[in-house]
Amino acid sequence: MRAVVLALMASLAAGAAAAQNAPPPVTLPGGKNWNFDIDNGREIMRTCAACHGEYGEGGGGGVYPRISGMHPDYLAEQLRAFKTRTRENIPMFPYANDRELPEKDVLDVSHYLATIKPPKHPPSDDVKMDAFERLKLAKQAVQIPREPGDADKGRKLYEADCLECHARDGQGRVKKPPLAQQHMKYLQAQITLFLSDMRKHEDIDELIRPKSAEDWKNIWAHISVLDD
Ligand code: HEC
Ligand code: HEC
Repeated sequence: MRAVVLALMASLAAGAAAAQNAPPPVTLPGGKNWNFDIDNGREIMRTCAACHGEYGEGGGGGVYPRISGMHPDYLAEQLRAFKTRTRENIPMFPYANDRELPEKDVLDVSHYLATIKPPKHPPSDDVKMDAFERLKLAKQAVQIPREPGDADKGRKLYEADCLECHARDGQGRVKKPPLAQQHMKYLQAQITLFLSDMRKHEDIDELIRPKSAEDWKNIWAHISVLDD
């Protein structure tokens, strides 16, 4: 009995401390304030880490996309699409359902992920910082190796057909996802899904406007150097 009371008191004290340390509202892109539960978001991310990496940096040689630093509205929308199965994702079926991931958790994990801005490179040895911070930044870094192909020709195709939505620097905006700093294997797999109508892409005509295999190779070469 005594042990139970002590445990209860300890958990109440921990709860009070957590409430005092509640994060201040974050300002979202667009200026809105949002009081999300960052600790809950971080906690949920532990389930996702097995595939997407501890900080959402992606993994599996690019099979699992980088999901850190994306706009929270895009992340939340994709999670809802997985839940309703309007976007098929067999590996995520057990995680993206209402029991495992109710709407509040969708928002918390999306907003938590949006706060992690993946650096383009691991910190250089010249920069002074403590070992833990260095390790954390090295893990968060997403650096895309250069793809073969003519990046200059790819840039022209990109600027004609992709820039309008995915932006010149490839960082995207709001619900138009970033292509820069995303794993190539994942991006290329998405094109296959779009072309076979298994995933919907806005204005598909622009995406498929006749492009040869050579054109695609050049587009990937350009996208792969956007983060250099
Ligand atoms: C078992 C592995 C696995 C786990 C666990 C997992 N995912 Fe995924 N996730 C994937 C795969 C594979 C894809 C890519 C699917 C595709 O190719 O369309 C993906 C795609 C995504 C995307 C879409 C990214 C984009 O650019 O459109 C988001 C967002 C996402 N996952 C979030 C999460 C979150 C949040 C969790 C934890 C609640 C999670 N995932 C857990 C395997 C996983
Ligand atoms: C009219 C706007 C628009 C244009 C033009 C456009 N896209 Fe997209 N693209 C989107 C949107 C919106 C999505 C997210 C789809 C969704 O909601 O599931 C997307 C998603 C993608 C994805 C998947 C990214 C991810 O994280 O899952 C890839 C890859 C992609 N686009 C490549 C391209 C390429 C390459 C071009 C040019 C040849 C292009 N897009 C042109 C709007 C656009």
